[in-house]
Amino acid sequence: MHYQNTIFVTPKLLAQQSDALASLTKLAQQCNVALAYPNDARDEARLLCKAHPFLSSCLQATEQVLFEIVADKTGTFLLDEGIKLSFYCPLELATSSVITLFFHTLSDAIAYIQAFPRPGEQLPKLIDAYAALLAQGKLVAFPTETVYGLGADALNEEAVRSIFTAKQRPFFDPLIVHIAGLDQLEGLVVDLDPRAKLLMDRFWPGPLTLILKKHPSVPAIVTANSQTVAIRMPSNPLALNLIKASGKAIAAPSANRFGYTSPTTALHVKEQLGERIDAILDGGACTVGIESTVLSLCTEVPTILRPGKIGLKELEPLLGEVEVSKQVGPTDTNLESPGLLESHYAPTTPLYLVDDVTLYKDQSDVGVLLFEKQRVPFKGPVVYVSEKEDAEEAASRLYWAIRHLDSLNLRCMVGSLLPEEGIGVAINNRLRKASAKH
Ligand code: TXA
Ligand code: MG
Repeated sequence: MHYQNTIFVTPKLLAQQSDALASLTKLAQQCNVALAYPNDARDEARLLCKAHPFLSSCLQATEQVLFEIVADKTGTFLLDEGIKLSFYCPLELATSSVITLFFHTLSDAIAYIQAFPRPGEQLPKLIDAYAALLAQGKLVAFPTETVYGLGADALNEEAVRSIFTAKQRPFFDPLIVHIAGLDQLEGLVVDLDPRAKLLMDRFWPGPLTLILKKHPSVPAIVTANSQTVAIRMPSNPLALNLIKASGKAIAAPSANRFGYTSPTTALHVKEQLGERIDAILDGGACTVGIESTVLSLCTEVPTILRPGKIGLKELEPLLGEVEVSKQVGPTDTNLESPGLLESHYAPTTPLYLVDDVTLYKDQSDVGVLLFEKQRVPFKGPVVYVSEKEDAEEAASRLYWAIRHLDSLNLRCMVGSLLPEEGIGVAINNRLRKASAKH
């Protein structure tokens, strides 16, 4: 951090983060913190500058102009509501030279700025260094738009074996192979189904995993001896560039100990696997927040094996009939998709699904996951997964919220299911599997 660094904050961020102003005041001792406000907010901006002496200056600018300023000057950041952090970072496989990362707390965003005061220079170098580790058969955790993955060279059997060891994952659970370009499909799959091409065209890069016919060169350990292989092209620009730079297809399960909640921040990965792996690429919090949809094209009718952000509504117009795999029992290891094990994604503190969380308001040792604004006060700790009943926001904060409550040594935690529609179907699937059985 240096006085040459400028962090632009917006009135909306300040309004959203009123309790975290202390950390901005501290940051302002090391660099410039300036207010960037939209054209219609001049009066509000004046008041804010008066109220917050840490704001060194004021700039009236549209979002587009701000992005241009950020793109033009290394060491300049835009911190907006959400909590979104944008900065210049030229990466080959990114849609823009300004990268936007997402954080759950303002202090996480500030810690990121402090770790990467020159991200445009630091991140491309780090990506190249970590790509070299992958090429040498090492384990590197990296952010995707869904959850953090634990990556290894998919065609290096020993490297893939070390994923299973680090995660304590049983060998019957196959891995998803991640690619950065369609040219990598060669040598991974055979007889590519024309429907697969349609889906790739429409949803890749993005949170859709396709089960396809496997090429003989994919090691059996990746696919748990199956003749099919799971392939996905993530959309996170850091992930895409890491994979591309490694020159390999990357096998990557979620970067958590087997059976536990998936990680959606670099810290989550560090807590569970830090000692067991070679590097963690920090890309802030994952935006989707729950694992990709797994769709099999090797069944007679295309079948969703694991629900995700891309659901029936998106898939049926392209494919016609799509089936949804039914839930299967917890001890059955001969499954269509072993991630379908009934108990999965589970925190250590028991999670109970209840109809009405307010019944627990007087219990100080019960943590509460809230999906909508509650007017009653709770004696125990409460985490808003979404304040506005927004299912996409709930997905992006779900695992972070569960992990937070899990760290508090509570008797249990409670939450309710969301409406069974859109990404709510996938959230409910994870909540049911994460919940303790009565
Ligand atoms: O969003 C995601 O998919 C994340 C990120 C890191 O990309 N990865 C992830 O991987 O969730 P993992 O290993 O936690 O879950 C992979 C799922 C499992 O349910 C596994 O059984 C299924 O994909 N799977 C993998 N290969 C398969 C295959 N050949 N046939 C059927 N299911 C398969
Ligand atoms: Mg997993």
